[in-house]
Amino acid sequence: MMTATLELTRKEYELFRQLVYRECGISLGDEKMQLVKARLSKRIRQSEFKSFREYYDHVVNDETGEELSLLLDAISTNTTHLFREAEHFKVLRDIIDKWGDSPAQRADANTLRIWSAACSSGEEPYSIAMVAHQALQQFPNTALKILATDISTRMLAKAKQGIYQPNSLEDVPDDLRRKYFKPVQVSYEPSFQIAPEIRKTVTFARFNLMTPSFPFHKGFDVIFCRNVMIYFDRTTQGTLVNKFAGKLHPGGYLMIGHSESLNSISHPLTYLQPTVYRKK
Ligand SMILES: C[S@@+](CC[C@H](N)C(=O)[O-])C[C@H]1O[C@@H](n2cnc3c(N)ncnc32)[C@H](O)[C@@H]1O
Repeated sequence: MMTATLELTRKEYELFRQLVYRECGISLGDEKMQLVKARLSKRIRQSEFKSFREYYDHVVNDETGEELSLLLDAISTNTTHLFREAEHFKVLRDIIDKWGDSPAQRADANTLRIWSAACSSGEEPYSIAMVAHQALQQFPNTALKILATDISTRMLAKAKQGIYQPNSLEDVPDDLRRKYFKPVQVSYEPSFQIAPEIRKTVTFARFNLMTPSFPFHKGFDVIFCRNVMIYFDRTTQGTLVNKFAGKLHPGGYLMIGHSESLNSISHPLTYLQPTVYRKK
């Protein structure tokens, strides 16, 4: 059976574009119109809407926010992998090795708090957790708490399972692979699940980075915000980086994606090396 092509007008594209910008900060250029059309057409057909306009009205009137979440899922890029941009994990290891030299001056100094601020399907926070768990063996009195957030409920559901295909483990250092992955069968497919001692250090939660004020009262020693700011405009990036700075403990670190930079953004952090910044 042939399905009729859905037409997306410029005016309708503009409506979706403003909605996506308003809700999650993603700035869609004119060149993304065909991509948005293709991705949303699929969703529209699945739910049997007749036009983009009808779908748009449904999204903005859906008080549960579920359809908006599905729309953002269809539009945003969730690509990630274990030990992506591996240099950051060496930096993390060095930070923890020096942890004992300068004990933090605060009430919960015995907890290392890390935030993976756009965690997608979990590969980033689990990579952080494995490195930190192993490195912290030299400081047995220090607890590890990782907060992993994303706007996508679909990605968070996958992340919580912590199950990955064998070929996803290619960049995982051998010792960590042997120690922290358990073989499991998923629908007769051999897969690997992150070990319970690592999973229990990570708390997953839905959080929109566009939220006006960040409600994390305890602050963080390290924040990873990688490969999401690239989709935001400069003003949004500036606001976000300053909010991250406000949530870092003194001496805390911010890691951003390798194709991102804070050039031309005014912020209080000190540049340490490409994509790594520190709060004084
Ligand atoms: C390309 S992935 C990056 C994953 C991981 N940080 C990495 O570098 O591999 C970008 C993630 O940002 C999330 N995202 C997009 N806009 C967001 C927002 N406003 N708040 C929170 N997460 C958002 C998407 O759902 C997606 O999972």
